[in-house]
Amino acid sequence: MLWFLPVCLAASQLKASDDAAVDFVRQIKPVIADRCVECHNSETLLGNVNLQSRALAMQERKEGPVIVPRVPEKSLFYLTLTLPPRDNKAMPATAHRLPKSDVETVRRWIKEGARWPEGKDGEIIPRKPKLKAG
Ligand code: HEC
Repeated sequence: MLWFLPVCLAASQLKASDDAAVDFVRQIKPVIADRCVECHNSETLLGNVNLQSRALAMQERKEGPVIVPRVPEKSLFYLTLTLPPRDNKAMPATAHRLPKSDVETVRRWIKEGARWPEGKDGEIIPRKPKLKAG
């Protein structure tokens, strides 16, 4: 019966990685907070995209949906990260691209349904620009 053991182990490992759903607060929120929300908030609504909360991100816009839960291939949030850097819709619009691992995490997150909690956990506040001295 010893043959049975490795099969079980392999199966449980597979299951463990399948079950590890992307955690919005730990894996997605920091990316939006550091790299996106400065340009995509209620005051600076570049491209008509607001990433301060799920409700705002899901608002209908004539340019097409920012996030289509379960369909990364139709979600501009993901697609703009995959555009060639010279494309003027490639995001983030300035500074370095996101690491490939983050882009893949975003893809998985949307594929899994783009879970984004309500309330404080889901709220992303843009940092206030530093006031100029004088
Ligand atoms: C420096 C400012 C800036 C940053 C940072 C930034 N964006 Fe944008 N974003 C823009 C501008 C400007 C547009 C409008 C581009 C256009 O339509 O030509 C835009 C448009 C978009 C669009 C809409 C594209 C479309 O086709 O309608 C999405 C989605 C988007 N950004 C997502 C993101 C994400 C996700 C991040 C972070 C990874 C991010 N942006 C970071 C400035 C920024």
